Amino acid sequence: MIQNTLVLLKPDAYLRRYVGACVLKEFRDNKAFKIKAFKEVTPSQSLAEKHYSVHREKPFFKKLVDYLTLGPVIAMVIEGENVIPSIRVMLGNTFSEKAEPHTIRGKYGIWNGINVVHASDGEETAKYEISLWRKEAGVEETGGDTVNSLIDDYIKRWSKIRIDNTLKLRGICRLIATGERSIEDCEEEFFKLLKEECVDSDETIIKKFVRIIADNLQERKK
Ligand code: RTP
Ligand code: MG
Repeated sequence: MIQNTLVLLKPDAYLRRYVGACVLKEFRDNKAFKIKAFKEVTPSQSLAEKHYSVHREKPFFKKLVDYLTLGPVIAMVIEGENVIPSIRVMLGNTFSEKAEPHTIRGKYGIWNGINVVHASDGEETAKYEISLWRKEAGVEETGGDTVNSLIDDYIKRWSKIRIDNTLKLRGICRLIATGERSIEDCEEEFFKLLKEECVDSDETIIKKFVRIIADNLQERKK
């Protein structure tokens, strides 16, 4: 069955430029997918809350909204045969450290819910999300050469960076999760590793990024 799905390169994938380019390449190079919409969007608080409204009552909701509003995202509508389950399989487990190593989250997710990409989890969700991002962020299904050349330019520009510190970042998170190191002790290391990857971000946003990682580590300790 031909389906459409909403895919977001979340702010971690956007800010970590090389990682974002690698992930986008996986979607572009999959011949079963047609990318119909491609837009850079800085989600407002209200859009982030509506997008994750199903999780409104969950204890991690505020942290989730903080994460999605950390910086810009790349919003895409992708069409293909059974594209909804296919992309969910490509992503892997929600929690990066549990995701299989060949999946996108397994390869690039830092820790816990800092997991690089969102994709709709069913047909109803996909309809809701595609319509929400069209209405609130102008994510239009223009398709064709314009979308293809935007994607090619993005990949060409950022794949030159070649800095991927995922395993180092995750290694530190693991030590914090097992109690061998404290978050406070590791903040400077997180900052340095992210600064290498987030080549065009200012220090304020990288500091916020460190905070988001720290919040995520604290969340799972509870
Ligand atoms: P997404 O919606 O972003 O594609 O992720 P998903 O379907 O794999 O996972 P979902 O259950 O929908 O959760 C949405 C996002 O919330 C964060 N999360 N944190 N701390 C926690 O226990 C927890 N649980 C979920 C993750 O960022 C997840 O992607
Ligand atoms: Mg979900």
